Amino acid sequence: MSDSLYPVSEAWARTARVDAAGYEKLYGRSIADPGSFWLEQAKRLQWMKRPEVAGDWSFEEDDFHIRWFADGKLNVAANCIDRHLASRGGDIAILWEPDEPSEEPRRYTYRQLHEEVCRFANVLKGEGVQKGDRVTLYMPMIPEAAFALLACARIGAIHSVVFGGFSPEALAGRITDCDSTVVITANEGRRGGKRVPLKANVDAAAGHTRCLQKVIVVQATGGAVDMKPGRDVWYHEAAAKVSAECPAEPMGAEDPLFILYTSGSTGKPKGVLHSSAGYLLWASYTHELVFDYRPGQVYWCAADIGWVTGHSYIVYGPLANGATTLMFEGVPNWPDASRIWQVVDRHQVEILYTAPTALRALMKEGDAYVAKTSRKSLRLLGTVGEPINPEAWRWYHEVVGEGRCPIVDTWWQTETGGQMITPLPGATALKPGSATLPLPGVDPQIVDTEGNVLHGATEGNLVIAKSWPGQMRTVWGDHDRFFQTYFTIYKGKYFTGDGCRRDEDGYYWITGRVDDVINVSGHRMGTAEVESALVLHPKVAEAAVVGMPHDIKGQGIYAYVTLNAHVVADEALRKELRDWVRAEIGPIATPDALQFAPGLPKTRSGKIMRRILRKIAEGDVSSLGDTSTLADPAVVDDLVANRVG
Ligand code: WTA
Repeated sequence: MSDSLYPVSEAWARTARVDAAGYEKLYGRSIADPGSFWLEQAKRLQWMKRPEVAGDWSFEEDDFHIRWFADGKLNVAANCIDRHLASRGGDIAILWEPDEPSEEPRRYTYRQLHEEVCRFANVLKGEGVQKGDRVTLYMPMIPEAAFALLACARIGAIHSVVFGGFSPEALAGRITDCDSTVVITANEGRRGGKRVPLKANVDAAAGHTRCLQKVIVVQATGGAVDMKPGRDVWYHEAAAKVSAECPAEPMGAEDPLFILYTSGSTGKPKGVLHSSAGYLLWASYTHELVFDYRPGQVYWCAADIGWVTGHSYIVYGPLANGATTLMFEGVPNWPDASRIWQVVDRHQVEILYTAPTALRALMKEGDAYVAKTSRKSLRLLGTVGEPINPEAWRWYHEVVGEGRCPIVDTWWQTETGGQMITPLPGATALKPGSATLPLPGVDPQIVDTEGNVLHGATEGNLVIAKSWPGQMRTVWGDHDRFFQTYFTIYKGKYFTGDGCRRDEDGYYWITGRVDDVINVSGHRMGTAEVESALVLHPKVAEAAVVGMPHDIKGQGIYAYVTLNAHVVADEALRKELRDWVRAEIGPIATPDALQFAPGLPKTRSGKIMRRILRKIAEGDVSSLGDTSTLADPAVVDDLVANRVG
């Protein structure tokens, strides 16, 4: 942690949309009179019917509901495209940088985007997709992924994007959970010079689902794939036959826009459901305030569309604001560790938003890769996804930004729809490692384990006391799970799952998850999911998974595995089990360390004591605490003696 202060520069304070006094005023109003504050903010969207009410919500069990602008009507795609046509139809909406640096970038104006999205929407309609249907996307980072999202929004279909790095099994589970009849994919994806067999993975997934009827395949590379007659459709063939005009469906403000699966502390991934109006408003409001976005600036969020960051800050937020959003197909370290900075120079990027894990990986390669590029166009830097260590923060600030660019360290979650606690570049003095202060409209509290609200400088668990428009509305198909997961631990409040410290200046410092979720390279992984994958292996009797510190990834995955009787524990089996998890879930779930454990530390009632497993994984074996309540205290000695790594 660090307490050095980086004040707002005079130039930023003078020119930014919101300065320090402006922030105080906005924040005060948002809390004192949320109704008028949010109806005012709602004017940033184009409505087919303007709403007369803002928030209507209760987090209490007997009256649990969350609605925003419920009497309003709009279309999200029309907000992201059509309304810009008259004023900036010729401006670049999507700027696409291919994986292969020698290839030409592609550029789509808002007018071209309109045509592409209408065509895609008509193809979906032609395949029978109707308002309210679920459409799964399993796509590489190509412009067609954005077209497909917006096409769903245009006709009122609910999209569910599954990250292209997930396995066929994981994909099948997500298709089945929301009963998707249509999958949109590409023949192949490209990442860092390698090919990803997306269509083949869909074929494998299809065998595990019953609902899937149509697969729409975008031809992204020259790679050949099998097409199943009657089920599979080449996108370019279908698109050639349809009109480039498609009316935007009027949608209720509360109609679902999308589902995005995310890991929780128990069970299988949850389908986080977001609304149309509240979500879009939040994405647009935060994108404009936090990045101080001005039309004409090139803005780059280097995330993947498979995660919420890609939804809110590559597609919906920037396009709602008429921005030029850069979409990057590749990876930061290919062909070499200079790629990000070369892309910045090539496209004169002014705002860059990325993850601490990428910065740590690039920092390790040395400053020369950065120094050989100009980066003069950069004016603002951002981070998201995990806490940023002060060392990486300073490197970003000094080496990448040459001390010139403020850093917005944005704390938020899939569930929150968009940024929640973050500096505003013209308003907030920065402290490396702190997400600083809540945005206007966000009411965070720190509570102790009993739920008592803690005041002043303190540490505890982070809850949000009031609803905000971008809040998720339910878990797809399981409203009770939504309530139970987020609103029962601290009654009447939304529980984030994060620990948090607040310092004497009122700044928030997120300390990481306090539940059984680990944050691997900024991606959420539920320990229960990895455990379920491990115990599916015929040689495994039991497994327990915890997080461990990792220099680059932030957290790594540490698995303890108890084998069935008479199975020999050797290096070959260790590799087999790691590969097994990789195949079951995807590369991001591969355990970094796997320890064979003859027994796991359990209480007499059979509950695994994860606290002890975490300590051992961290290498902190001197403070294991009280182990006397264990059914068999001797297992701990074995675990300590055979720790890996
Ligand atoms: C963590 C990603 C510290 C946090 C947008 C949260 C952060 C989880 C930050 C959500 C940050 C995200 N500082 N921690 N700036 N941003 N987190 O749903 O633990 O993939 O609960 O959303 O990431 O991850 P998710």
